[in-house]
Amino acid sequence: MTMNRQWTLKRRPQGVPRDDDFELVEGQVPEPGEGEFVTRNLILSVDPAQRGWMDEGGNYFPPIPLGAPVSAGVIGEVIASRNPDFAIGERLYAVGSWSEYSLLGSGFVFRKLPAGGDIPLAKYNSLLGGMGCSALIALRDIGKPRAGETLFISGAAGNMGTLAGQIGKIFGCRVVGSAGTEEKCRYLENELSFDATLNYRTAGDLSAALKGVCPEGIDIYYDNVGGPMLEAVLDNIKLHARIVMNGSIAEYNDTEPRPGPRNLWNLLVKRAFIEGFLLPDFADKIDDALVLLEEWYREGRLDAREDVRTDFAHMPAVFRALFDGSNTGKLMVSLE
Ligand SMILES: NC(=O)c1ccc[n+]([C@@H]2O[C@H](COP(=O)([O-])OP(=O)(O)OC[C@H]3O[C@@H](n4cnc5c(N)ncnc54)[C@H](OP(=O)(O)O)[C@@H]3O)[C@@H](O)[C@H]2O)c1
Repeated sequence: MTMNRQWTLKRRPQGVPRDDDFELVEGQVPEPGEGEFVTRNLILSVDPAQRGWMDEGGNYFPPIPLGAPVSAGVIGEVIASRNPDFAIGERLYAVGSWSEYSLLGSGFVFRKLPAGGDIPLAKYNSLLGGMGCSALIALRDIGKPRAGETLFISGAAGNMGTLAGQIGKIFGCRVVGSAGTEEKCRYLENELSFDATLNYRTAGDLSAALKGVCPEGIDIYYDNVGGPMLEAVLDNIKLHARIVMNGSIAEYNDTEPRPGPRNLWNLLVKRAFIEGFLLPDFADKIDDALVLLEEWYREGRLDAREDVRTDFAHMPAVFRALFDGSNTGKLMVSLE
């Protein structure tokens, strides 16, 4: 009998998740019911957003119930099916969990992967799936970039940040990013052609540091971090600036409510806006976005870095890499 190991949520984390907030449990591989199918998971995604799903309040997803597997993006191969649309052997990208096997229905599937394609599997997690679509659609449809405008990106060396930065360059923007180490800043400038960077950990006064790298002000802010950087950006926005709220990783482990930016008034002064982004609101744009992302990837204009781990036995420690900044690309665990 094949067994299925799954990481479950044992306790709601307080602050940065600890090992004992989770439990690795073993059970039988489920049998598909009518309309369902089972995947053997090849890649498990490790995403900052999962931290929010672990909290009592939940957010745009209901909270993960205690004792339930930790919800996660997965790339899996169908091994049993009672759904005519999903044949054994097909590979897909779906919402599953940190599990060796997942029981799924068609509503969980984001996309099928081409059979026998030449693109590495991990790219479908870092670039040619929900991540790439989010970076492209959020920047293009909310940020509305125009050539010559200044695009500032926080969390710039992360998966979303590097994608948004490269896409910003394709649209002809002057691209500036913040990251937490000098090595990450050099990578952004030397490998990804960012026009300027700042190390937010050593910058001191963030508002003044931003003025240094964006002397004419910021037209578009692609916000991955929230926290104090948002206030600093609001001090530096230009007339009709657009702020795309893509994520707030600086706040995900807060245990107390954080004071909001003290300078929201600047939105009125500059007739600017902040808009939150979630991909399901743009479902009708996903197919076209996937085609465009693959085209740019094949042309060598857009790529992602992956940080593929193999330590499924230590998922909580892998997860923490997102919050101490030690991940070196889109974080995921391979089970192949
Ligand atoms: N709206 C959507 O549809 C959507 C989709 C995907 C992701 N997101 C959001 O996008 C953001 C980035 O996700 P990602 O997948 O690209 O993760 P990631 O950037 O690949 O990894 C996380 C990085 O965030 C930085 N970070 C961690 N704690 C921080 C803090 N307190 N202050 C500033 N930076 C911090 C670290 O880099 P440093 O060394 O630079 O600190 C870390 O390496 C997250 O907020 C995520 O929730 C949103």
